[in-house]
Amino acid sequence: MRLFLFFIFILYAGKRALACEIEFDPKEVFVKFGGSASAICKTSGCNSATGMGWESSYGGTGLEEGVSTLELKIEKIVEWTVEPKCYIAFSNDEQKTEKLPMTIYKMPEKVSMPKPTTPMKVTGEYYLIQCDVVDVAPANKLVISWYKGNEKISEKRLEDPSRKPVNESFQSTIEVLPEDNGKKVWCEAKLNLPAEQSPPPMRSEAHVLTVFYPPTFTEPKNKTLEIDAGTEISLNCTATGNPIPVYSWHFKHPTEGEIQRQNVTGPIFTVTPEFRVSGVYSCVASNNVGKTTKYFILNKPKGNLTTMAVLLGVFLALGAVIIIVGAIFVTENGSCAFQKGIYHPTASDPL
Ligand SMILES: *[C@@H]1O[C@H](CO)[C@@H](O)[C@H](O)[C@H]1NC(C)=O
Ligand SMILES: *[C@@H]1O[C@H](CO)[C@@H](O)[C@H](O)[C@H]1NC(C)=O
Ligand SMILES: *[C@@H]1O[C@H](CO)[C@@H](O)[C@H](O)[C@H]1NC(C)=O
Ligand SMILES: *[C@@H]1O[C@H](CO)[C@@H](O)[C@H](O)[C@H]1NC(C)=O
Repeated sequence: MRLFLFFIFILYAGKRALACEIEFDPKEVFVKFGGSASAICKTSGCNSATGMGWESSYGGTGLEEGVSTLELKIEKIVEWTVEPKCYIAFSNDEQKTEKLPMTIYKMPEKVSMPKPTTPMKVTGEYYLIQCDVVDVAPANKLVISWYKGNEKISEKRLEDPSRKPVNESFQSTIEVLPEDNGKKVWCEAKLNLPAEQSPPPMRSEAHVLTVFYPPTFTEPKNKTLEIDAGTEISLNCTATGNPIPVYSWHFKHPTEGEIQRQNVTGPIFTVTPEFRVSGVYSCVASNNVGKTTKYFILNKPKGNLTTMAVLLGVFLALGAVIIIVGAIFVTENGSCAFQKGIYHPTASDPL
């Protein structure tokens, strides 16, 4: 029974204490260092209260009797540790006190970004970027963002309870793409305050990115061409890359052996009528980041045979046709054995 009464007492006491409340309007005060602030303290359900008041290092209000709301005004805040408190005095000499949530802020004196590593390479590497802010408060409301060509690439915040101004260095990483060459990067400091009070963000200087990337072809890597009569053939190996690629051409000549040309012709190699040999010409476009090879497959002309060749061709074709026709009579897939010839018939060809 005694225990039961004890619980009743605990519940009653708890309810009484809960019923008397202090509220602030606004709920939290944001004030620029050097600016003015005001807040209203409101009490509710405090039956045995005799009065209320504000306490502050800028001078409080003193105890006001018989009121349930009381305003505090501070003309000019030039201290980082101001902590006004609202209190209620009860008839039994007890007090209930509540701190006014208050944020005193100051935009940085300076925001700067050290010049990033240059040049950067497009090889999946991450590069460190930094942002330095001087004399900003409070640290835990600070949001640092980095931008690359108007696109936000990273964001950092701090868990620092310090109310006084701090100097901070933030770091993040950046990965670059070929199209980032020439883009600008910078960082920005912002205080995360309610929208209507938020000062405009402050930017660092911008740096232009130099991005090195390997040679890349806009067209497919392999190209098949046919040698035409009398005309020159231009093989175009133009690749984009930074630094500008250099080109080397390779071709294995059946009689003269390996022919190699280092950047003689640049990206365009001209196959002159005197030098026309079918085969695979390869071009290596390279710079200090990488290299890429493009193959040009030059095929023998089809309609430009000498008379001898024409005659020989006709003869061989006729022979093949005769043999194939014969073979088809013997077996349906007998023609397979002759597919390496000049002619490429299949069993379904209308003969
Ligand atoms: C921040 O840096 C400035 C100048 O660089 C210096 O005058 C100031 O004392 C520093 N503040 C703190 C809190 O270290
Ligand atoms: C291009 O040609 C080269 C040499 O003939 C060959 O090794 C390669 O697989 C070809 N690449 C494509 C994408 O066709
Ligand atoms: C070679 O190709 C590039 C694009 O791949 C093109 O800009 C250039 O005009 C071409 N050059 C010639 C001589 O055809
Ligand atoms: C290679 O050729 C290109 C195009 O003609 C030229 O711009 C480049 O300077 C040359 N590089 C070297 C190392 O000779």
